[in-house]
Amino acid sequence: MKRKDIIEFEIDKMEFGGTSVSTYEGKEIHMKGGITGQKVKAVVKKARSKKLDVKMIELLEKSDLETNKTCKHFGECGGCSMLSVPYEKQLQIKEKQVMDLFLSQDIFGFQFMGIEKSPQDTKYRNKMEYTFGDEKKDGPLTLGLHKKGRHIDIMTVDDCFLVDDDFIKVLTSTVKYFDEKKLPYYKTVNHKGYLRNLVVRKGINTNELMVNIVTSSQEDFDMSEYKDLLLSLDINSKIVSILHTINDGLADAVNCDELKVLYGRDYLNEEVLGLKFKVSPFSFFQTNTKGAEKLYSIAREFIGEHKDKVVFDLYSGTGTIGQVMASSAKKVYGIEIVEEAVKVANENAKLNNLSNCEFIAGDVSKTVKNLKTKPDLIIVDPPRPGVHKDAIKDICGFEAKEIVYISCNPKTLVLDLVEFMNFGYKVEKVKCMDMFPNTPHVETVVKLVR
Ligand SMILES: C[S@@+](CC[C@H](N)C(=O)[O-])C[C@H]1O[C@@H](n2cnc3c(N)ncnc32)[C@H](O)[C@@H]1O
Repeated sequence: MKRKDIIEFEIDKMEFGGTSVSTYEGKEIHMKGGITGQKVKAVVKKARSKKLDVKMIELLEKSDLETNKTCKHFGECGGCSMLSVPYEKQLQIKEKQVMDLFLSQDIFGFQFMGIEKSPQDTKYRNKMEYTFGDEKKDGPLTLGLHKKGRHIDIMTVDDCFLVDDDFIKVLTSTVKYFDEKKLPYYKTVNHKGYLRNLVVRKGINTNELMVNIVTSSQEDFDMSEYKDLLLSLDINSKIVSILHTINDGLADAVNCDELKVLYGRDYLNEEVLGLKFKVSPFSFFQTNTKGAEKLYSIAREFIGEHKDKVVFDLYSGTGTIGQVMASSAKKVYGIEIVEEAVKVANENAKLNNLSNCEFIAGDVSKTVKNLKTKPDLIIVDPPRPGVHKDAIKDICGFEAKEIVYISCNPKTLVLDLVEFMNFGYKVEKVKCMDMFPNTPHVETVVKLVR
């Protein structure tokens, strides 16, 4: 077996993160994508003595698991790879994948409390970041998501099941408008062009909508007609914010060199478990609001009574978790690296009449050791790469009785847990919360005790 060979096989097992493992002529096959039971044709990318890395080129036969209705983009779009599998089955698959990851690190002897489903399994997202481009070279302007496995081809996702109809109306009217204006989209290969992204955010519990058009500074285009077009749309949400972000950064990410408010304010309001939150354009906010309410409730349930306790909320974003805990804590200290999010977190605490919260800007691995108060409870909710090793050492140095780890990546979670266990902590309870139906992702909440 060598590179570029074509093979056909049946997928044995899906692994966490959207990869699959199968066997072929005694070798273990690793592939991105795939659903257990599918028959596929694939090309060998890397051949080793016992392992093959392959790339799917054709789906030959669907799996028996695939009985769900899918959107028209399914299979081509890089988004919801599990949409064809019924939701209950998706939950079972994710629960098993997380358990397998714990066992792979020899972590057992804890109470496993299963998986909670998302309150909505479609139309649950409150934020979409769309990219301008084309679907084929020099074709008409498109705006949407990357095609599966492609860095440059963009498809207009006007039948997407992840968002409500208002997102789709904003998306389709935006692409039509800018296509008529014949403005060039920004090409990441040569950094030339104007139109970069469209970011739509919604306050699910407030019905407020924010539209942020992101361009380079390479044209001097008047956005007032576009703003009026958005305000004239027949949509259910209330547009409270239309923004124009200038981004000349070379990275393929939404960064801000200059922010212009075209209409309304530069934030939207959202409500979570009865608390009010200002959501600013570039701060993290859980993308499934109704799911976040369940996630934070699980964390609260794990913590139990925490009256008069000092709580650290590390990786605090806009301060949601800290504030959910604050009403029955003595003091909450949050640490977050994005300054804009910290500013908003402190404003949010004031808005919620919480005088016992203090959010501080900084990198947890450098800043947490500077906190002088001894915490009773530490909550960590890091990004996908997990908690930095230096930070784990500093966090454990506080000798808090309890740590609650909220993770969006069980692969890094289990590795971090091993470190926490080396510092004298024990995993007491674990519960998964599906914040991302139809995708391979899942959130996990872990309670550690000293
Ligand atoms: C998964 S989010 C959690 C946010 C918040 N707890 C919530 O539920 O909305 C992770 C947060 O960590 C922040 N972050 C990433 N690296 C960091 C670091 N080294 N130090 C502090 N914060 C960091 C990100 O900006 C992001 O807001």
